[in-house]
Amino acid sequence: MKNTDALQKQLVKIRRHIHQYPELGNQEYKTSAFITSVLRSEGIATKTIAGTGVIGLIQGKKGSGKTIALRADMDALPIHEQTKKSFSSRRPGIMHACGHDANTAIVIGAGIDLFQRRAEFSGTVKLVFQPNEESAGGAKKMIAAGALIRPAVDAIVGVHVSPWLKAGTLGIKYDEMMAAVDRFTIEIRGEGGHGAYPHLSVDAIVVATQVVAAIQTIVSRQISPVDPVVVSIGTITGGERYNIICSQVRMEGTVRTLNDVVRRRVKTLMERELKHITAAYGARYVLKYENLGNALKNSRPILEICKLAGESFLGVPQVKVLDKPSMGGEDFAEYLQKVPGCFIYFGTAPRKAYPWHHACFDIEERALSRGSLLLSRIAQDYLSGGAPRE
Ligand code: NI
Repeated sequence: MKNTDALQKQLVKIRRHIHQYPELGNQEYKTSAFITSVLRSEGIATKTIAGTGVIGLIQGKKGSGKTIALRADMDALPIHEQTKKSFSSRRPGIMHACGHDANTAIVIGAGIDLFQRRAEFSGTVKLVFQPNEESAGGAKKMIAAGALIRPAVDAIVGVHVSPWLKAGTLGIKYDEMMAAVDRFTIEIRGEGGHGAYPHLSVDAIVVATQVVAAIQTIVSRQISPVDPVVVSIGTITGGERYNIICSQVRMEGTVRTLNDVVRRRVKTLMERELKHITAAYGARYVLKYENLGNALKNSRPILEICKLAGESFLGVPQVKVLDKPSMGGEDFAEYLQKVPGCFIYFGTAPRKAYPWHHACFDIEERALSRGSLLLSRIAQDYLSGGAPRE
């Protein structure tokens, strides 16, 4: 059995290697090959699915039983690193600025520990290394490629490092944790004309301003104030010249909600506003509304296993129960549409913390092996029937 120091040293090396060679979503070929080679050198069986996804399988020697999946994401971001670390990104303009290098290292470490302990448990642990979390779609692609079958996954735990939690702490959130992500595009179609004769045209800009204002009242006036909703319009374009009435305006934006009832309601209200405002001015509209990702809701029994494992392994003060959800999205939610599970934050706050997606984002590496051993503990506790270990 590898001691914790040896595992820690190995994980720092693994994390730094992945960090130096970041790859964008669905292009994680080198990362995928590297993960495969590390797992195989430890004796863990692997396969590649969904292009760059990697599955590792660890069979408990105590007999058959349930299967738990541990998931990490592997993609980087189009950001130019500014940390000035010796192991900074060697790819200009691409950086692991969300810590997916660390998430991956933590799940690899859990796999190494579990493989060495395989005589101590029954059932199966499936390591799931997923491509393309950042632009979403990676989880759905992994599920479609069979990540949750053969063997069928009974529960899944996803881990993400957090710069806001002290190194070595576990952050959990009951129930809704992250928002559903929708994208909408609105086209307002009016009738162009000369700027001096507005009465002979239908000004798409004037109609669009009414629409922008009305959409804000969905959140402030039409949805219960205790249901969190975000409606943000991110782009607006239209018009040709100062003295031409604009015939078409296009805008796009995002809606974030925490449950399906509110999610459907926002779309219905948006369509209603559009219909009435455009009708009032004699304009037309086209609404394109896409559901990009579901809300992430943790299942209680799995969360309790994570929480108890954290309390016994890290200590009770090292487990933080978060009281507020985030309106950000996380495609781990797609696995939770299929199987029960829990998404956990693992604290890796460095001395000076920068937010996720910042060019100076970094982690406290000394926490890596604790993250791995915590995940290993969670998997073992689940496979032994959910009873917390002494
Ligand atoms: Ni991330």
